Amino acid sequence: MNLEEKIRNIQDFPKPGIGFKDITTLLQDGEAFRYAIKKIAENVKAKGADLVIGPEARGFIMGTPVAYELGIGFVPIRKPGKLPAEVISYEYSLEYGTDILEMHKDAIKPGTKVAIVDDLLATGGTIAAATKMVEKLGGEVVDIEFLIELDFLNGRKHLEGYEVNSLIHYTE
Ligand code: PRP
Ligand code: MG
Repeated sequence: MNLEEKIRNIQDFPKPGIGFKDITTLLQDGEAFRYAIKKIAENVKAKGADLVIGPEARGFIMGTPVAYELGIGFVPIRKPGKLPAEVISYEYSLEYGTDILEMHKDAIKPGTKVAIVDDLLATGGTIAAATKMVEKLGGEVVDIEFLIELDFLNGRKHLEGYEVNSLIHYTE
């Protein structure tokens, strides 16, 4: 299965000069979507994770079927103000300004082995924030899985020391 050919490139979205990797064309192809989820699930299982965590919104699309496939739980990381119970928040830097992510405080029991799943590794800011929250709650990040990695943005440098795997790599 060539997953890369299922991804659509949209030039100049959302800004001039950016080539947006559109995963909706992969998602709407049942065979390709299932193949990608099964591949990620195999990796997560091999690392011995007992919980999957995914950031809103595209991390939900990729993360929940992985958890379902393995029969383990899923914990959402959300944008501020969406989660009803007590949360921990993490503010992180973007190219311009900052963003905040939240997670339920009681979602991770100390010692839980966690896999973080998202659609795309760009600068690494989102998932670095996720690792910080998981660790603050006493969880252990045993695996980080992406559908796509933009190698040229060097997001991995924010994730040093972790197991990081991506199914598709773009080198430019
Ligand atoms: C996108 C993508 C990743 C993140 C990668 O999410 O889905 O989560 O950016 O960027 P980074 O590695 O530089 O942090 P976005 O915040 O655009 O929102 P969405 O998932 O809700 O579409
Ligand atoms: Mg996202």
